[in-house]
Amino acid sequence: MTDENMTSSNAKSIVLLLSSILFSTLLGGPSHAVSSPVTNEEGVYQFLVTHENVISHDTAFIYVSNGLEEKISISIQTTECYKCKLIFLGSVNVRELVEVQADTSWPITMEISLKDEPPNNATVCSLTHHFKQNGNYTWYINSKKSTDTFDCKLVTMNNPPDAFIPIYVTLGIFAGMALFCILVKQLLKSTATHRFLNYFGMERVVSSDLGTPANPVSEADSNSIQRPSRDKPKRLKSLDAFRGFSLVIMIFVNYGNGGYKAFFGHSTWNGLTVADLVFPWFIWIMGVSITMSFYALLRHGVSRREMMYKIVRRSIILFGLGIIIDGGIDFSTFRVPGVLQRIAISYLVVATVHLFSVKHKVEEYRITRAVYRELRDLLDYWHEWIIMLSFLALHVCLTFLLPVPGCPTGYLGPGGPLVGENGSLENCTGGAANYIDKVILTYNHIYPRGTPRRIYKTTVPHDPEGILGTLTSIFMTFLGLQAGKIFHLFSFARDRIIRFLIWCVLTGVIAGGLCGFSKEEGIIPVNKNLWSVSFILTTASMAFFLLAIFYYLIDVHHLWTGVPFYFVGMNSIAVYCGSEVLGDYFPFCWKPVYNTHAELLAMNVIGTGLWVVISYYMYTINFFVKV
Ligand SMILES: *[C@@H]1O[C@H](CO)[C@@H](O)[C@H](O)[C@H]1NC(C)=O
Repeated sequence: MTDENMTSSNAKSIVLLLSSILFSTLLGGPSHAVSSPVTNEEGVYQFLVTHENVISHDTAFIYVSNGLEEKISISIQTTECYKCKLIFLGSVNVRELVEVQADTSWPITMEISLKDEPPNNATVCSLTHHFKQNGNYTWYINSKKSTDTFDCKLVTMNNPPDAFIPIYVTLGIFAGMALFCILVKQLLKSTATHRFLNYFGMERVVSSDLGTPANPVSEADSNSIQRPSRDKPKRLKSLDAFRGFSLVIMIFVNYGNGGYKAFFGHSTWNGLTVADLVFPWFIWIMGVSITMSFYALLRHGVSRREMMYKIVRRSIILFGLGIIIDGGIDFSTFRVPGVLQRIAISYLVVATVHLFSVKHKVEEYRITRAVYRELRDLLDYWHEWIIMLSFLALHVCLTFLLPVPGCPTGYLGPGGPLVGENGSLENCTGGAANYIDKVILTYNHIYPRGTPRRIYKTTVPHDPEGILGTLTSIFMTFLGLQAGKIFHLFSFARDRIIRFLIWCVLTGVIAGGLCGFSKEEGIIPVNKNLWSVSFILTTASMAFFLLAIFYYLIDVHHLWTGVPFYFVGMNSIAVYCGSEVLGDYFPFCWKPVYNTHAELLAMNVIGTGLWVVISYYMYTINFFVKV
């Protein structure tokens, strides 16, 4: 975001983007593929938590055979629902058999009892088992003749293939493609090939068609990484590649993640999945690029006033864009928080604070020069640290101390009717975070659903990008800014990478301590819905690590050019908005025929891949959307 000679094309591209968004909104919005409900045949019970009425994936078939002289009832729950009551599924008559279609995303707990509705104390037997997709099982419930006890036996009837095979195949295809590209590149590099092509006068054709496209910004600097270059920073390819990498995962996840919801989808409540990683990374990367653009602007003699104007303008554009993408227009129900809105606020706060604390000259400290030299990325910015840590402290205080009517103070759970005593926590979803959104924005203007709805059966809306979480996302941006300062203040690759790794360990250890290295049991569990402190520290730890790796491979040793993520990262706003707006239309999405993981994964990978191709095209024609 450093280039300035593109303002006119920027304006044009924003207009283009906005009009395409408005156009699609006017069309009446995309029609989501809704599967028609399947009426249960007699003797078939369904417990499908990540997919409704679609039994072509993530479903196991369990036949419960009642060998008792009494009617029995089946209760069921997924282990993903932490400390949840079992749900009554149905009953089985004397000497009869019923089919249970159960979700295989997580282990399932099933209980057989003699009375109809839980809770009950007439439990016959129970089991917790991770059933396999397309597995056939029979659960025989019998009584032991001699004693008064019960004899329950689960028999596996078939051995279905691993549900992850499509993922392995996809990874294999990508590995093959990467290998092929490397081989072709090596071949083109070798002198023998050059001589051969020269002979036929073809070399120019090949190198212009197949060679890496010349990058106007960083090509000239490729050899100067190791050189101290305080006054001439270059565009970091690794940062663009990392941004693109996050964005590609984000698009894939938003497009449906091949139906692998437990693995690629967002966490139900506590926990960390692949989908949970990308948004905080994105915010963190934005923090890194704040320093890049700042020093570029300051170098060009842009005044702080002008920069402040730029910051505010950019924040407003991002916020507005976010509201429109979230489906804006209707004033009684439009959603105020959102991904771009969160990015806008975090950017506004962190960039403004940084603007007023950024140094032009080196300050003297009454400590030895050597210590100062090593810690100048911290010492020069101690006031910034105090401000940012107070945002973090405010988040913790509000989360744990704000009284929420009808709910325990400091409650961090998902609420809903299944947890707590007699549904006393029913409306407590998200504790203070949710309450703040409810009071300030009202439930009409936040995300109407929320990830715990399916499994915890919550009824109150919960916005994963709510107001309280903005405080932690500001801190997350600031941690990215720290990485940017390291890039700016330390010129040698070794100094930079060591610092990234120290931050990686530091944030990782603190996060681990806060969540007790467990999913549910720590003081502050890792939670994407709340943007808990441990959540941002965990993801920041990974971000420091990944940037260190990307930087080492791409910018220091030139072992990889960052292709294809690099192109996506150069045009993140265009690709993000485009993918959000067009995601439900062909060719990015179509109505699945077989609805298997293989088909869904292929569809989502193609949809995501198209955006990589589109961003490559935009790169070749020098079309960059900047806000
Ligand atoms: C939760 O809210 C609903 C709807 O406003 C209300 O009917 C219910 O009683 C509330 N539950 C509790 C435990 O307060």
